[in-house]
Amino acid sequence: ARRFQWPLLLVWAAAAGTGSAQGVQTENVTVAEGGVAEITCRLHQYDGSIVVLQNPARQTLFFNGTRALKDERFQLEEFSPRRVRIKLSDARLDDEGGYFCQLYTEDTHHQIATLTVLVAPENPIVEGREQAVEGGEVELSCVVPRSRPPAVLRWYRDRKELRGVDSRQENGKVWSVASTVRFQVDRKDDGGIVTCEAQNAALPPGHSKQTQYVLDVQYSPTARIHASQAVVREGDTLVLTCAVTGNPRPGQIRWSRGNESLPERAEAVAETLTLPGLTSLDNGTYTCEAGNKHGQARAPYVLVVYDPGAVVEAQTSVPYAIVGGILALLVFLIICVLVGMVWCSVRQKGSYLTHEASGLDEQGEAREAFLNGGDGHKRKEEFFI
Ligand SMILES: *[C@@H]1O[C@H](CO)[C@@H](O)[C@H](O)[C@H]1NC(C)=O
Ligand SMILES: *[C@@H]1O[C@H](CO)[C@@H](O)[C@H](O)[C@H]1NC(C)=O
Ligand SMILES: *[C@@H]1O[C@H](CO)[C@@H](O)[C@H](O)[C@H]1NC(C)=O
Ligand SMILES: *[C@@H]1O[C@H](CO)[C@@H](O)[C@H](O)[C@H]1NC(C)=O
Repeated sequence: ARRFQWPLLLVWAAAAGTGSAQGVQTENVTVAEGGVAEITCRLHQYDGSIVVLQNPARQTLFFNGTRALKDERFQLEEFSPRRVRIKLSDARLDDEGGYFCQLYTEDTHHQIATLTVLVAPENPIVEGREQAVEGGEVELSCVVPRSRPPAVLRWYRDRKELRGVDSRQENGKVWSVASTVRFQVDRKDDGGIVTCEAQNAALPPGHSKQTQYVLDVQYSPTARIHASQAVVREGDTLVLTCAVTGNPRPGQIRWSRGNESLPERAEAVAETLTLPGLTSLDNGTYTCEAGNKHGQARAPYVLVVYDPGAVVEAQTSVPYAIVGGILALLVFLIICVLVGMVWCSVRQKGSYLTHEASGLDEQGEAREAFLNGGDGHKRKEEFFI
């Protein structure tokens, strides 16, 4: 009896094979709006039967490889015994739905590939509610009008995340999302950057859309006077510069001199006051003043005009003298070393002193020539090529 079991088993296996293997198989597809989607129908043991592809409205796109619907966005990419592959370019939201892959054999097979269209967020729109003023609060809103799935919004300031208050609204198939943040601002925040970042599954992993917002914080002005020189003698020309800050920037800078009027020779242009041909009569406290709608600032400068011959030890002259002394010493040392090197190289060549006490060294980018004046007085010249 055992002998006859083998042929029976084979007949059963063949019947099972023809029954289940003829058919189609598809996969669901996700595409970003405007992108390219590929819908693939895998064929099993294809025997030349008719293959029909239909869109979600059950209109026939391709009838056994021949275009049926006049929509050039659909292209037949492949029709082989193994698979039928179509490409949809510039995918739109209303392309969404089930695409039918039908195989007409004795018993019709079909499979549905569900196409999902996602919408990537555009760069968010960031706006400030009202003008920010130092000491007050700023309220910023970040809006992404279209996204699917709803975009996740995040706020950053100096790489620190800020917590926003989110809201979302569904408009047909897409979402409008918004987020607002509030925080205190100071004058140092003026010009600072706040970033709103939007992310969803329609963007490639690790990608986001960002918009930077530059904070505009208004504040009252400050003023400081810089003088063109530290010590002023009779006959000198002094230029005073008034450095002002403030947002909005103070428009006009006013110069004054205590209760007295400015010398007639004085010339005030924008932030500078030029005082030519100074005499001791010009002594006094000079003030620059600037204002905006948030306040006023003033800076004084006490002018003391000395006699032309007066010996005045200005603080700034001391460091210059020290620096100058160090530089002179350094130059002297370098010259000594170079002279030593020239001396050594002349001796190593075994040549006797056929040259005078002057050497010429042509190495590197700098050519230096030394002229020995005989009593320790040296002149150094450098040519940079
Ligand atoms: C359908 O198309 C395939 C591939 O071009 C072809 O081999 C087959 O014969 C066609 N079937 C019919 C019924 O026309
Ligand atoms: C394809 O999508 C449809 C509809 O969303 C779902 O019912 C089906 O299970 C999905 N198939 C696969 C293989 O994920
Ligand atoms: C300015 O003049 C007023 C009166 O004319 C006087 O009281 C005040 O002390 C003066 N101020 C200065 C800085 O000289
Ligand atoms: C101006 O100041 C200098 C230095 O203090 C002084 O010598 C001079 O007399 C002053 N001149 C006037 C007019 O006050």
